[in-house]
Amino acid sequence: MRVWAIANQKGGVGKTTSTLALGRMLVARGMRVLLVDLDPHASLTRAFGVPGDPQPAGVLDLFASPPATLAGLARPAPVEGLAFVCAQTALATLERRSASQPGLGLQLSQAITRHSGDHDAVLLDCPPTLGLLMVNALAAADRLIVPTQCEPLALHGLAGMCRTAAMVERSRQRPLPVSILPTLYDRRTRAGRDTLHRLQQDYRDRVWSDAIPIDTQLSNADLLAQQPAVGDSGRAMPAYGRALDWLLDEAATLEDAA
Ligand SMILES: Nc1ncnc2c1ncn2[C@@H]1O[C@H](COP(=O)(O)OP(=O)(O)OP(=O)(O)O)[C@@H](O)[C@H]1O
Ligand SMILES: [Mg+2]
Repeated sequence: MRVWAIANQKGGVGKTTSTLALGRMLVARGMRVLLVDLDPHASLTRAFGVPGDPQPAGVLDLFASPPATLAGLARPAPVEGLAFVCAQTALATLERRSASQPGLGLQLSQAITRHSGDHDAVLLDCPPTLGLLMVNALAAADRLIVPTQCEPLALHGLAGMCRTAAMVERSRQRPLPVSILPTLYDRRTRAGRDTLHRLQQDYRDRVWSDAIPIDTQLSNADLLAQQPAVGDSGRAMPAYGRALDWLLDEAATLEDAA
């Protein structure tokens, strides 16, 4: 089972969109995919039409005693092969609990280890903050995907995210390969082109050689979550398909090397 964390400490860079789009693309290739919403803002959960009130069962229950199981929390999406686990707004309180309860950083990892069989891939949509939920995701993931908006300020966020990943990698027993996914690319702007060039220069083989373009069809996450077919229309979804080819190739290379 693949476990991919989709994370960036910067907000609004396309994490939730990339989680949905890559999830849909994996399903289109015959995989059974579980998306986990780790963001207390619950954008992914809302995209699937689940309201915040009453609070749904979800990620917070993985931290209960005894913890819930991912299989018990997974809800089927309207798209066959796709399921999701909700985030609750009360997840925001988790950061405050963490100081007094050591060990909370591995709850998700343990839940994923116990979760065998039902899914081929688990994608973790992270909040834009370096807190307990992101640490849980980085501890659980076998790969980190960092969506990075093609605009100059995004480079600072990316450097911070890479430092965090390196820190987590040192404290766990296995490598955490980082794959950078340039997003929200507007090739008509100089800032967009320059940033993409800088990304490719600075991060070389860790960055995808292409970019996900801005595409108004992707500005509605509800459609991405619920529409029966998202296939080839527009420019961004085919780009996500190519990005997935790269991610799967990279994963195969790493598995061969292991
Ligand atoms: N390729 C794209 N083309 C057009 N709009 C996009 C594209 N990717 C993302 N968006 C839009 O940009 C906004 C931010 O995207 P998204 O919510 O995926 O980012 P995020 O990193 O998850 O944000 P947050 O940090 O708040 O969780 C959303 O309105 C989304 O619909
Ligand atoms: Mg998000």
